[in-house]
Amino acid sequence: MRILAFESSCDETAAAVLERKDGNITVLSNIVASQVAIHAKFGGVVPEIASRAHSEAISGITYEALDAAGLTMNEIDAVAVTSNPGLIGALLVAVNFAKSLAYSYGKPLIPVNHIKGHIAANYICHPELKPPFIAFVASGGHTSVVRVEDYRSHMLIGATRDDAMGESFDKVARVMGMPYPGGAAMDKLAYEGKNPMKFPSAAIRDDSLDFSFSGIKTAVLNTLNQMSQKGEEIPRADIAAGFTKAAVSSVTTKLGMAFDRNSDMKALVLAGGVAANSHLRAALEQFTKKRGLSLYMPELRYCGDNAAMIGAAAFFEWDAGNLADVSLNAYAYSV
Ligand code: KG4
Ligand code: ZN
Repeated sequence: MRILAFESSCDETAAAVLERKDGNITVLSNIVASQVAIHAKFGGVVPEIASRAHSEAISGITYEALDAAGLTMNEIDAVAVTSNPGLIGALLVAVNFAKSLAYSYGKPLIPVNHIKGHIAANYICHPELKPPFIAFVASGGHTSVVRVEDYRSHMLIGATRDDAMGESFDKVARVMGMPYPGGAAMDKLAYEGKNPMKFPSAAIRDDSLDFSFSGIKTAVLNTLNQMSQKGEEIPRADIAAGFTKAAVSSVTTKLGMAFDRNSDMKALVLAGGVAANSHLRAALEQFTKKRGLSLYMPELRYCGDNAAMIGAAAFFEWDAGNLADVSLNAYAYSV
């Protein structure tokens, strides 16, 4: 079975072609048109500009994805698309495009949840991976601890109460003068911080599995303001190292609680744009080793938003008969 998948929930317009044969998923093409350069001028994603840029890019990347896979629409069995959650105007571009394409070629249409897509990136990279497991999904828009019972049954057991983890990396990077999105640059800079500054934890101090990243972000802002008022040189690397340390240890704290309470779970799956963070990857390697758990992390090219992950999740929606028709709508929240 071959799926043509689309993703446009934030600032990447993406199309991919995937094939599943004897249960094995292969990515035949994976095209991502990034809008990062456009939004960098504004220091963050501007929703209206994102929607327009998706509209401009989507038909071109569809041809590119089919060409790169060496296929025509006649050789595609179904069309999949991210229908939630995300920026509503952005989501609607790929949803409407996918609907039209599926309708005009008489192909089934498969709606996919973006978070399930991020998690499914791991099925591409680790064919041996099977639920159940605990997933930690962190991106520019989400920070979620998910109990994954099976391919489609996902239970949210923890989340951020304010900023997403990636968003907090981007905001701290921005106040230190780094271009949007600053997550990857912060990752590198943190290695140069020999005396990491101390910042509060993002793990909420209660028995929930929730996070609050706005507190550390504000602590960094206050430190920066105080230092610049005193005319002191800003130790950017030590701030990056300290912020990363606080953010990462908050994650291991809450994941520790998650595994204590879900002792039937023996594997941790990492997903989302922040899954590219090398400090987080290293900390989770240690965390899982100590606890005798298996760890699955996506290859870097499947961490950030892409359509291959949406296609991977779509195979399981297909198996469950979760199809949509031309009445499919997009939702800003997770459904
Ligand atoms: O999954 P994604 O591409 O888009 C959303 O669904 O939001 O995630 C993008 C986020 C951005 O906040 C970006 O700064 C962050 O992932 N990110 C990183 C790294 N690479 C990307 N954050 C920390 N360290 C990284 N290496
Ligand atoms: Zn995402």
